[in-house]
Amino acid sequence: MVALLNSIVGLPQASTIAASVDVLYDFVFWVSLVSLVGITAAMLYCMVRYRRSKSDPEKTPYIEGHTPSELGMSVVLFIIVMVIFYWGWVDYKKILTAPAGAMEINVTARQWAWQFEYTNGRKMLGELVVPAGRPVRLLMSSNDVLHSFFVPNFRVKQDIVPGAYTTLWFEAPEVGEHPVYCAEYCGTAHSKMLATLRVIDADEYAQWQMKWEYGQKLGIGEAEAAEATPADSTAAPAADGAAPAAGEDLATRGKRAFAEKGCNACHSITGESVVGPTVKGLFGSEREFVDGATATADENYLRESIMDPQQHVVKGFQPVMPTFRGTLTDDDTNALIAYIKSLRN
Ligand code: CUA
Repeated sequence: MVALLNSIVGLPQASTIAASVDVLYDFVFWVSLVSLVGITAAMLYCMVRYRRSKSDPEKTPYIEGHTPSELGMSVVLFIIVMVIFYWGWVDYKKILTAPAGAMEINVTARQWAWQFEYTNGRKMLGELVVPAGRPVRLLMSSNDVLHSFFVPNFRVKQDIVPGAYTTLWFEAPEVGEHPVYCAEYCGTAHSKMLATLRVIDADEYAQWQMKWEYGQKLGIGEAEAAEATPADSTAAPAADGAAPAAGEDLATRGKRAFAEKGCNACHSITGESVVGPTVKGLFGSEREFVDGATATADENYLRESIMDPQQHVVKGFQPVMPTFRGTLTDDDTNALIAYIKSLRN
C-alpha cells in the first residue's frame, strides 16, 4: 500500500525499515479516519433521531444502558489498541537493535554541526558517506545540548544527549542522497544544523576509504580534510580533540590515549587484574558490582566508568579511580572506547 503521507509529501522509502514504518502509520491513520467518520455519523444520526419531540417536549426516555454493546465496544477497541501496540513493538525492536556486524560510525553533535568519525579515524563535517546494502550503526553523543538525528527518508530519528551515548542504525539498499536534520530545538542556528547522507556503491565506498587511508599514510590528506568542511558559515569551527597522527585509526588513537592518560597504570590489557579490572575482554561482558547489581559492559557503561567511576565499582576492587570528566574530550572518549572494544576477544 502506498503511504498516504508519502503521496502528499513525496518522501522516498530509502531504508530497509521505511516501508514497515509507513504501513503501520497508514494502519493507524485509516483506523483513526474510519473511527472519526463512524463516530461523527452516529452522533449526527442520534442528534436527529432523538431530538426533542414537538408533541411532548418534557419527556426523555430513561436509558438503562446496554451491556452487550458496551462490552463489545470495549473489547473491540482493546483488540485494536493491542494490535497497534504489538505491531509497533515488533517494528520498534527492529529499529532498536542493530544487526550483528553492522558498520560503526561515531556521531558528535554540537551547536550547530554534525561531525562523523569512521573507525579508521576519518572525520567528516556535515556529510556522512555510507555503503549501500550494509547495516550502519551510529554511536552518537553531544558536546553541548540536546540534539536529534533525523533522516526522514529513512524514517529514523534518535535524540542525542550530552554525557551519554545513544545509538541508531539503518540500512540503505539503494545509492542516493538524503538530507539529515536536527529534530530537537538546540538554539539559534538549529534550523541550519543540517547534513547530507550519501549512500554510495559498496565497492566505491571501499575505494573511497582506501584512498583516504593511503593519503594519510603518505601525508597528503590535507586537501580532503578541507573538502569535508561545509561552506555554510554558520557551521561550528573545525573538529575538536587531539588530531589523529597520519594513518591512525580510532582504536589506535584510543590506544595512544590509554597510555597518555595513564589508564595502563591501573588497567592491564592482558587479562591480569592490577589496581583496577583488566580491559581485555571487558566490552560486552557481564559486570558485577560491589552492591550486587549487574550490567553488561556496553558503550554507555564504559563512558560512565571513565567519567563517573564511583557510580558502579566492580566487585573485588576499591573505589579509587578518579574521574576523567574535563580531562578527556568526547573525541578521546570515543577513541578510548573504540580501543577497549577492539580488545573484546
Ligand atoms: Cu541541533 Cu537542533
